[in-house]
Amino acid sequence: MGGTPGEDLAGKQVILGVTGGIAAYKAPLVVRGLKSLGIDVRVVMTDASRYFVTPTTLQTLSGRPVHTELFPETPPGAFEVEHIALADRADLLLIAPATADFIAKMAHGIADDLLSCIALATKAPVLVCPSMNVNMYLHPATRENLDILQKRGVFILEPASGELACGWEGAGRLPEPERIVAESKKILYQKDLAGISLLVTCGPTCEDIDPVRFITNRSTGKMGAALVEAAGLRGARVKVISGPVNREYAPWADVIMVRSAGQMLDAVRDNLSGADVLVMAAAVADYVPETYRGAKIKKGDKLTSLGLKSSPDILSTIRPFKDDKFFVGFAAETDNLSDSARKKLMNKGLDMIVANRVGESGTGFGSDTNSGLILSEAGVLDHFEQVEKEVLAHRILDFIRERL
Ligand code: CTP
Repeated sequence: MGGTPGEDLAGKQVILGVTGGIAAYKAPLVVRGLKSLGIDVRVVMTDASRYFVTPTTLQTLSGRPVHTELFPETPPGAFEVEHIALADRADLLLIAPATADFIAKMAHGIADDLLSCIALATKAPVLVCPSMNVNMYLHPATRENLDILQKRGVFILEPASGELACGWEGAGRLPEPERIVAESKKILYQKDLAGISLLVTCGPTCEDIDPVRFITNRSTGKMGAALVEAAGLRGARVKVISGPVNREYAPWADVIMVRSAGQMLDAVRDNLSGADVLVMAAAVADYVPETYRGAKIKKGDKLTSLGLKSSPDILSTIRPFKDDKFFVGFAAETDNLSDSARKKLMNKGLDMIVANRVGESGTGFGSDTNSGLILSEAGVLDHFEQVEKEVLAHRILDFIRERL
């Protein structure tokens, strides 16, 4: 871990099985998404899928011949039984879209074409993405078939709801290609954090002055979101407590949205007991208005100052409940990075602190990269200079895993 994002996935082989539904038109984007992670994509198409997307498109995007025949003419070179060779080499069999018919075949072990033979022969994890008319999806036959697959350990990505190509409204839409790629990525990653529960706070807090104004800071939640994504990919259970941000967290995270420092403290208190690791990546307000004014402050009020009081320090408040949990703090600093971070590590009873520079370009709030250092009681663990936040997230998790 810890290299460039997706480094772990380069060279992995995914078989993308495309079956005959209208959503097959999204398959080329799934191929592109997987390829952008360095994954070697082998496309296998059923006969019916060729009504919706052409082998030429998928061949061009995957950079590999598309497989369609159970009994192809033997290619020049070493002979191999194609469906077994493909099944054996796969790190993941992804079926997107999966029609009701194909799901039924899988559930009952029918192997009458190349893709269904591969589904039966592979030992790799399988991700099925159903897509069909809502009535077909809700039909007891389909429900039971999906149950059978799920009990066998097949991963099912539930379809989205909305307007369907057939004119009906409801569940049955193939999720967007980005979501399918994210789920595939999660299955392919090494699960070195399996069984670990992470509680991550992210983003800024907003402290309301009146119904119009509030005090906040420049945090965008990017570093926290990178940690949430990376931890989930590596098998951790992740709960997020987030201040107001303009972003979506990884789809597998359990997200609790809060607004103020006080609400964040309550949410951390309520959720701490189930966590093995707490990562306080949030930029919590230190000062909050003494009083909230229910009516808008008007120009005519001639306001000249704003009464402020200190907010509760979340880490110091929950310290008595730390037990054997691993606490990680962040320190955003403009000066004396190392000394300030060391003081915070000691004063807040942390196991590790990530100190990053703010106030210059290429690091800190809103930036894609961060510069700074990681400290524990033993000393400096790492220096990082303009490192992508996704990469830094994996490094931080590597250090946490070593110390758990
Ligand atoms: N933090 C906290 N509660 C607060 C403020 C900060 O738990 N009220 C946490 C942050 O989430 C972070 C760590 O404490 O993990 C350090 O935050 P930082 O803002 O860098 O330091 P402060 O303690 O607020 O001190 P200062 O702003 O003076 O540097």
